[in-house]
Amino acid sequence: MKEKNIEVKKLIKPFDVVIDNIASDKSISHRCAMFSLLSDKPSTIRNYLRGEDTMDSLKIAAMLGASVEDFGETIIITPPSKLSEPSDILDCGNAGTGMRLYAGLLAGIEGSFVLTGDKYLRSRPMKRVADPLRAIGASIDGREDGNKAPLHIRGGKLKSFKYHSPIDSAQVKSALILAGIQSDEVSYYKENLLSRDHTERMLNGMGACIKKTNDGWIAINPIEKPLKPLNITVPTDPSSAFFFAVAAAIVPNSKVTLKNLTLNPTRIEAYKILEKMGAKVTYIQKEDLYEPIGDIVVEHDTLKGVEVSQNIAWLIDELPALSIAMSIASGPSVVKNAKELRVKESDRISAVVNSLALCGVKYTEHEDGYTIQGNSTLNKASINSHGDHRIAMSFAIAGLLCDMDVQDTQCIETSFPNFTEILESLKN
Ligand code: S3P
Repeated sequence: MKEKNIEVKKLIKPFDVVIDNIASDKSISHRCAMFSLLSDKPSTIRNYLRGEDTMDSLKIAAMLGASVEDFGETIIITPPSKLSEPSDILDCGNAGTGMRLYAGLLAGIEGSFVLTGDKYLRSRPMKRVADPLRAIGASIDGREDGNKAPLHIRGGKLKSFKYHSPIDSAQVKSALILAGIQSDEVSYYKENLLSRDHTERMLNGMGACIKKTNDGWIAINPIEKPLKPLNITVPTDPSSAFFFAVAAAIVPNSKVTLKNLTLNPTRIEAYKILEKMGAKVTYIQKEDLYEPIGDIVVEHDTLKGVEVSQNIAWLIDELPALSIAMSIASGPSVVKNAKELRVKESDRISAVVNSLALCGVKYTEHEDGYTIQGNSTLNKASINSHGDHRIAMSFAIAGLLCDMDVQDTQCIETSFPNFTEILESLKN
């Protein structure tokens, strides 16, 4: 990746803005590229996220034989009659979602596939999908006995399964659902906390049958015929929008209206935490298309510290931005049970606390989270993104209070290409 930096200047006046051009949802966009391959008709996707991660997923769909026609606002993906073995490796870039979901999909398809990614993705754990997929007959290998990419998958016939996942991860769940729908019998998957459920919603909308049983398992029925195509407008990504929610919450007298977000309950927990801290948050649902969709309005108020120890899977992408609000809140904030943060795009526990320390914030690091002292006045610092888009954008938002230099910000392109442009517009 090219090295890029952002210099953020302290805001000298409050803002009251409506933002309608935040990046489209990354999770849903990845799934659009992949799930369109399960139909026999063209899928119509509006507002597909043009971030590096999701463009990589689209390229992979094309390498597997799909025709991808890009008309600007609309992308039409026409699946091949049979997915073909690609002549080259499949590059997922920085995307854990791309690699883990494609692993589940390709495990059930005859052929040889190599999934790779950038240096950050190649250091992330893949056994969480490789092990359960191997147990149902997939042949998967990679460095460290299949834990690190490049992964080589030889796909083929898969057995049905009953798998209780030790991790609450939508990526693991989705990989197993994509494998399960390709087997001959019903499979069952269980997670301790419902992780984001775009896969279930979208596949059911396409005609699959993935249902919760009374005892908390997800029953995954095999698909007997090609699914209906997708016809979808990808909503705004609430995780990307959250950076501007934090901006409004921390800059006195400010307000932001964030337009057309998915209001899926597994995706808006961070807004609830901000509300618990004292910010004024309003949710306005407008429509329901695979997911509830609407606007969120966030207004500044005095913030107080908070304890976050539950529903961590619903906050995993937003905790770095929340840590900025926690730093200036009155009283300490605690994040617990969040060990998963250590294996995201960076080790987000150490990236958050070390960066906060550079800004003068007092903290204690725990194996599964951190305590942030609160009542801090943030100081200008030079922050390294650690190649993690969420760290880069969180500290750029902190810069609205105190000036900030954020180094190595090319990673923002993975999920939110126009982030800096929107950040700049807050000054107007
Ligand atoms: C995602 C799931 C989450 C999230 C990631 C996107 C998805 O990861 O952090 O940004 O689209 O399924 P895990 O499911 O591994 O927690």
